[in-house]
Amino acid sequence: EKGGYEHFMLKEIHEQPRAIRDTLSGRISEDGQRVVLKELNWTTEQAASIERIHIVACGTSWHAGLVGKAAIEKLTRIPVDVEIASEYRYRDPIVPDNTLIIVISQSGETADTLAALRESKQRGARVLAITNVLGSSANREADYTMITMAGPEIAVASTKAYTTQVVVLYLFACYLAQQRGSIGASQVPEILQALKGLPELAERVLETAPSLRQFAEKYKDKEDAFFIGRGVDYAVALEGSLKLKEISYIHAEAYAAGELKHGTLALITEGIPVIALVTQDDLYEKTVSNIVEVKARDAYVLTLAWQGDGEIGKYADEVITVPRTMPFLAPVLSVIPLQLLAYYASVARGNDVDKPRNLAKSVTVE
Ligand code: M6R
Repeated sequence: EKGGYEHFMLKEIHEQPRAIRDTLSGRISEDGQRVVLKELNWTTEQAASIERIHIVACGTSWHAGLVGKAAIEKLTRIPVDVEIASEYRYRDPIVPDNTLIIVISQSGETADTLAALRESKQRGARVLAITNVLGSSANREADYTMITMAGPEIAVASTKAYTTQVVVLYLFACYLAQQRGSIGASQVPEILQALKGLPELAERVLETAPSLRQFAEKYKDKEDAFFIGRGVDYAVALEGSLKLKEISYIHAEAYAAGELKHGTLALITEGIPVIALVTQDDLYEKTVSNIVEVKARDAYVLTLAWQGDGEIGKYADEVITVPRTMPFLAPVLSVIPLQLLAYYASVARGNDVDKPRNLAKSVTVE
């Protein structure tokens, strides 16, 4: 059942190229020009009537939502708020007319996410559920559903669910732009072409596994680690740090790289591992200057950069690269080395990788 892998998590990490391909399949027109979402089938009016979007989710699904926000805002200029479901449900949220709620949940059964869904429906919002389980409660209760085609995810740590959620959000962002004739509509064919290339690129990223294993084994006894990045790199940093905490039990924090100086830099001392993501070209120099700051405090810096970046090695102790794609699609690739890092750290520390302490796969109680 583990397909020859030692753990479900490792199997699921390796299934990502297939899962991404399946998630795209049937959702792009044959000529590659348009997104086809039969499950929505929105008229121009329906798409045009959306004035704002709230994305609501927990944990890794919330991190996927952060990437979705960037994509939707970039392509449609519709304002998007991303919220943690357990906060949203209790804070008396303002849900004006023409708000679309997107709930994201691998299981479709997370108690807080379902409560947020119900709360927003009661306030008259339309709800789109993005889940991995056909027939889940979220699917049944939402007005619209998009399924991620990750297939069953057994390991508690979410991996292929995340990458496919992000891919669904890209498709949805393209669809909205296309149906509304938004600013990003003309870029849709190019984005779809890039999306179709992701499974093969993800395959190549999996080849970074041996380097991450080495890094994890070297740093397995550290008590803290930091992940930094800007823009969607920050969203991926949050996911990388959650993964490390969840299964290796190493304390990890993710910081928007520009925030370091506002307190966290005090914690950067000799030998502290800092994982820095640098895939956002327009923010490159800014992030590099933050890397220089942590290096000056003798942190041990692992950077995650584009293949062919001839510069970054000057600032880092180790460099892991991912093959180039459009920068806003980077999360699908850059998260994979961070999943592998968490996996190997967990194995090196002798933890129960697939069933980390205190956690359940699906949190159906508060
Ligand atoms: O099934 P859901 O996507 O609603 O689950 C949400 C979180 O509980 C989940 O993503 C959790 O954070 C993962 N264990 C993280 O790896």
